Amino acid sequence: MQIIVVKDKVAGGKAALKVFAAAKARGVKVFGLATGGTPETTYAELVASDLDFTDSISINLDEYVGLAADHPQSYAYYMHHHLFFAKPFAASYLPNGLATDPAAECARYDQVLADHHVGLQLLGIGRNGHIGFNEPGSPFDGTTHEVALTPSTIAANARFFARPADVPKRALSMGIGAIMQADQILLEAYGSDKAAAIQAMIEGPVTTAVPASVLQQHPNVIVILDQAAAAKLSVAGQASA
Ligand code: F6R
Repeated sequence: MQIIVVKDKVAGGKAALKVFAAAKARGVKVFGLATGGTPETTYAELVASDLDFTDSISINLDEYVGLAADHPQSYAYYMHHHLFFAKPFAASYLPNGLATDPAAECARYDQVLADHHVGLQLLGIGRNGHIGFNEPGSPFDGTTHEVALTPSTIAANARFFARPADVPKRALSMGIGAIMQADQILLEAYGSDKAAAIQAMIEGPVTTAVPASVLQQHPNVIVILDQAAAAKLSVAGQASA
């Protein structure tokens, strides 16, 4: 695992842009993308860059159940608002949060993943160590599935919604098995509320209780952290950018 500690989220976005540019330069055509607060500066850097994704495919990690693609808090809307409006891809895939048959939708998504091998997978991390919406206890070989979000994740997501009752309780998420198939993984984390999860992910045992700890078993992972997220690491400060 390569750990890059930066001053703040803005510097993190610039470091992440370099990872995307290097991936494009070596011919990566399939990008696994994430949503949430963490990748906002990365997408801002991609938007401001001269990188062109019209020959590429994007596959997002997850989508809330019950939100239409044009709902302002849906991840489909988020992706359009933060990236796709300026950087269209040849095709962009997200799970359909309104699917009437979630099992069939998960199978469709697994087929999308089988058809397109991800070259670079972008990840954030939950305070409880989740990646995608693979909450603690999720199997490391899991496929796309419907998830009951934990109270911790629902509470963390509440900041994006006007009323607590509006926060979705369920999501469709890529499984950890698919995430681990990516050739390279870039995980970003910013802020002190991620410090414990980052410490457990990097220095703790590999356990389904901390889903991100599985990344210790992936051969090509880059982690971009600000100093607050890196604060509990014994290696903090060894790498910087
Ligand atoms: C988002 C996703 C989640 C988030 C995580 C952190 O597509 O799959 O794992 O990356 O919940 O969210 P933020 O970045 O809002 O702290």
